[in-house]
Amino acid sequence: MEKTFIMVKPDGVKRQLIGEIVSRFEKRGFLLTDAKMMTISRETAENHYGEHSDKPFFGELVDFITSGPVFAMIWEGENVVENARTMMGTTNPKDAAPGSIRGDYAVNVGQNIIHGSDSTESAEREIALFF
Ligand code: GTP
Ligand code: MG
Repeated sequence: MEKTFIMVKPDGVKRQLIGEIVSRFEKRGFLLTDAKMMTISRETAENHYGEHSDKPFFGELVDFITSGPVFAMIWEGENVVENARTMMGTTNPKDAAPGSIRGDYAVNVGQNIIHGSDSTESAEREIALFF
């Protein structure tokens, strides 16, 4: 069965949105197969976001994702990678549809509550990195 890596980012944890996010995925019919609260090292953050290493916001991104605990999860289900991305909403919350997680809870592209793998290959890589 397909798996994806989902993470409630430090802003989502601080705003006490873990339960809300877990609940949305459970109600949608996906299965939570592993989860842990953790603080990410800079090394892991730089590896996780490696594809963005040449972007101007990379330093800010690594600072933010290591700024406090995150809630890392593995979710399983049919087309879970693509479905999770739809449930999350677009990267920039200003464009995210109401009803999506970012559309309902986030305002700022740098602090957008949740991460989800963008492909089955990314999911495999990220699950190996975090679990
Ligand atoms: P992730 O699930 O976190 O990977 O988000 P994404 O796949 O929707 O977006 P992408 O991988 O393209 O970017 C990774 C993260 O970089 C985003 O979630 C944003 O938090 C951050 N980011 C992207 N663009 C900008 C930007 O222009 N400014 C800042 N400050 N952050 C950005
Ligand atoms: Mg991404």
